[in-house]
Order: sequence, then C-alpha cells, then structure tokens
Amino acid sequence: MNKLYGLLGHPVGHSMSPLMHNDAFTHLGMKGYYHAFDVPEVELKEAVDAFRLLNISGFNVTIPHKVAIMNLLDEIDEEAVMIGAVNTVVNMDGRYIGYNTDGRGYLTSLLKTIDRPLHECNVLVIGAGGAARGVATVLANEGVALLTIANRTITKAIEIKDNYQSYRHANITVVSMSEAEDNLGLYDIVINTTSIGMSPNVNDVPISIQHAKPSVVLSDLIYNPILTKWLIQGEAKGLKTHNGVGMFVEQGALAFQLWTGKYPDTERMTELVRKQLGGFTC
Ligand code: ATR
Repeated sequence: MNKLYGLLGHPVGHSMSPLMHNDAFTHLGMKGYYHAFDVPEVELKEAVDAFRLLNISGFNVTIPHKVAIMNLLDEIDEEAVMIGAVNTVVNMDGRYIGYNTDGRGYLTSLLKTIDRPLHECNVLVIGAGGAARGVATVLANEGVALLTIANRTITKAIEIKDNYQSYRHANITVVSMSEAEDNLGLYDIVINTTSIGMSPNVNDVPISIQHAKPSVVLSDLIYNPILTKWLIQGEAKGLKTHNGVGMFVEQGALAFQLWTGKYPDTERMTELVRKQLGGFTC
C-alpha cells in the first residue's frame, strides 16, 4: 500500500517539495506519495488531528507553521528544540516526532563548498529570523572558530545568542550591520539568511562586500533567483559563492531519510529543482 507523506504550509502553491519527493519515491521504486496541503494557521490543529486519523507517515512543515506545530507533537528532537522550530515530522508507531532538517541541510550543502575545516572558520551570519536561528544553531553545535550574528534589529541577534547559550557554551558575538560591513575581512564564510535580494526585489544586497577577503565564501540561503545580485557581485570579484538550492535539496533529502531510512539521489533532486526554478526566475 502507498504510504502518504505531506507538506503543511500556507501558501504551498509554489512548493517544489512534492516534485522532489515524488520523483525520489519513483526513482527508488518505493510506494510513497507526497502531497502539499494548504492549511491556514487557524486550522493547523485540525489538520494534524486529521493526519493522525489517516496515519500519515510523515510530513514537512513550512511557513507559517514551523513554531506552532511544536505544541501539537508527541516529542521533539533536541536540535529542533534549540532552534525553536520544526520542519519535519516522522510518524514513529503512531507518535509524531519533530525534527529540524533546515540547519543540517544547510550545513551538508555548505560543507560541499568550503575547502577548509569548519572549526577553523570565522563565520558571519546576517539576519536573525527563523532561518538564521537554524543556521546559527547548527554551526555553533558543529563548532566554528568564531560565530558572529549581525542584524538590522540588533536585539533579535542578541536573542539568538542568548537562546543558544542557555543550552550550551559557545563563542558567539553580535555586531551591528555597519560594524559587520567594516570588519568583513575577518570572516571566512559570510551567510545571508535575510530575504534581501529575493525575487521580486532582486536589486537589493544584504551587505557590501568591499572589505571581503579574497578567500571568503559568500553563502546566500535564497534560491529564487538562483544567483542573487549579492552572489553575482561576489563572482565578479572572483569570490567563491554558494547559493540556496543546496540547502533546499539537502533539507528535503534529510527529511526523506528520516521518513524512509533511505538517502535519495541529491544530484537528481538538484537538477529537478534547477529546471523548475529556471522556469520562473528568468
Ligand atoms: P525567516 O524566518 O525566513 O528568517 P523572518 O523571521 O521574517 O524570516 O526574518 C527575516 C530577516 O531578514 C530578519 O533578520 C530581518 O531583519 P529584522 O530582524 O531587522 O526585521 C531581515 N530583513 C528582511 N528585510 C530586510 C531589509 N530590507 N533590511 C534589513 N534586514 C531585513
């Protein structure tokens, strides 16, 4: 019998997850089907109750439900608790267990791009929203030489630092955007987790790269457009760049693995996503 998987979000119309997961089921010869469910915030509890009733095998959770879902689950993985958000739920013998594969997915993708050990790298995270929280938590858990968070609203960056340090010790600093810009030469990896540069505002950049060091890796979580203006500026300067397609694919692959025990072909997934994006970014 087909096992049913899903996505809970609002809106979900443009999600590429069904395409990616259904292709992986077919490619691996597995009986699974993934469907995107458009569920507004007020109906989240009913939707999860319905999923339980129908014994849905697992699901992803996206905007705006990643935090609210946590109260509706039976157990939450430790890293997801630290991040404060869940994007993947696994049905374990009728109990729903929450995980966060966003941060780990990002890390898996980043590690394919950098050519020195992460623990030797000074890392700057720009932004302090949900995405920044996932990325900063996983980087701190993994261990980096220095982790700095910069955000327009500095209090939100301090909240991420304080939240992390309430669980574990880590050397995290917080700076203003202008301090980060002036001292950009300190960092080996600079990560944009904000929406600055995302379609349709494709002419905006999160930070000037004037003071970046030649060996820096510029990493942008945005995948629409695949190459943001910021990354284009970096490439024009001969800097190494890393776009958000890898994170999207890897978070999906890790979720698929949690559900099925099988790690899908991420190169195939990347090709699918790139083709799909090509359709509406150019
Ligand atoms: P997500 O969950 O995707 O991370 P979010 O929680 O809304 O989204 O966070 C968006 C991040 O982008 C925040 O760090 C936000 O800065 P503020 O905390 O100051 O709001 C940042 N951001 C978005 N648009 C911005 C802009 N035009 N200039 C500076 N920062 C911006």
